[in-house]
Amino acid sequence: MKALVIGSGGREHAIVEALSRSPQVNKIYCAPGNAGISKLAECVNIGVTDIEALADFAERENIDMTVVGPEAALAAGVVNLFNERGLKIFGPTKEAARIESSKEYAKQVMERFNVPTAGYRAFDNYDEAIAYVKAGKIPTVIKYDGLAAGKGVVVAMSLEEADAALKDMLLDSSFGKGRVVIEDFLEGPEFSFMCVVSGNKIYPLELAQDHKRAYDGDKGPNTGGMGAYSPVPFIGEEVKQRALKEIMEPVAKGLVNEGNPFTGILYGGLILTEDGPKVIEFNARFGDPETEVVLPRLKSDIYALFDAALKGEDFEIEWDNEAVLGVVLASKGYPGSYEKGVEIKGLEDVETSVYHMGTALKDRKLLTAGGRVLMVTGKGATLEEAHKSAMKSLAKIECPSLFHRSDIGKAAVKI
Ligand code: AMP
Ligand code: GLY
Repeated sequence: MKALVIGSGGREHAIVEALSRSPQVNKIYCAPGNAGISKLAECVNIGVTDIEALADFAERENIDMTVVGPEAALAAGVVNLFNERGLKIFGPTKEAARIESSKEYAKQVMERFNVPTAGYRAFDNYDEAIAYVKAGKIPTVIKYDGLAAGKGVVVAMSLEEADAALKDMLLDSSFGKGRVVIEDFLEGPEFSFMCVVSGNKIYPLELAQDHKRAYDGDKGPNTGGMGAYSPVPFIGEEVKQRALKEIMEPVAKGLVNEGNPFTGILYGGLILTEDGPKVIEFNARFGDPETEVVLPRLKSDIYALFDAALKGEDFEIEWDNEAVLGVVLASKGYPGSYEKGVEIKGLEDVETSVYHMGTALKDRKLLTAGGRVLMVTGKGATLEEAHKSAMKSLAKIECPSLFHRSDIGKAAVKI
């Protein structure tokens, strides 16, 4: 089989790696890919939103299955176009992907199907929004209603912070058109629950925990994610089953009943409150960096899993009992502005899996090429061992323009 993966980050590196373990896949392409991915797949220079060129490529090369990584490709309608042209693709249509691309749509879906989530109101007028915040409780959560690469969320601990966020999103239009969702603040441990979904059918994956804030101790701005691990020992099977029954199943069924069925990865960003698991956000794709710690634990053939999902067939997923923990190396300044093109050394001495998130090769040198640059992982019988192994690898990598969190996994491992 020939597979094409769309995307260029650590998530796609992990998807490509999982596909490379499939006994039935003998050729993998990645568009556009990155320096790390190029070791396992042939990188094709097509951008993730250039959907006509992607479809032309898949047709010309007789690709058996395309797997979509990033939300931008989904929102551009890559799945709609491939479906129209009879090309096999794993991912949701742009209509179904609105569960991620519009925070307000996601909230409406949850309301309609009685899915537990924080109370909210949506605003496009600054005066009304600030009046609502002043009348409510602090902390409060302000979310830009659109795609913002995981950076459009401000958990405001003071009225001043809330005001600044509202001004930024509604008056200065930092991300585009101004509309926000203001949400009640929820408390409890967070976890990421990714499921392969095919209409009504759900194939749950193992849980992971991400670290969204930029700095140690969950300080600093929200990012796309600074590190992750799997399994999540403090979220038991009972909570997972509850999340499946109360959250994932009603959403999948509801979308089918509304004539907007979802096929692909439904990612629930969940929080375990005193009243049980509640939804913080949905994504319509694999999480990044969660994928880099979940897929290495997948024993089953991922191509067969996607294929079964596309056909709506049963599939028993097998998992490796080992734990995986990974730390993101990001460019100093991320999630704000940062320098690119700085050389990274020492990777050749690393013995564990390192996923490239934003790298480029130039004159045989490995250079930084993004905000999040590398995800350095470790594997072991326990999370402690996985942590130790990741730390050993991390110490070998040299690059003056990178930083990382030193407390990834602290909720589960003694650091
Ligand atoms: P999101 O992009 O919606 O996942 O939000 C990013 C991060 O902001 C989450 O991972 C949480 O840490 C935090 N957050 C979002 N919504 C809430 C909420 N309602 N209550 C508490 N924290 C939240
Ligand atoms: N790591 C969170 C996300 O992929 O949105």
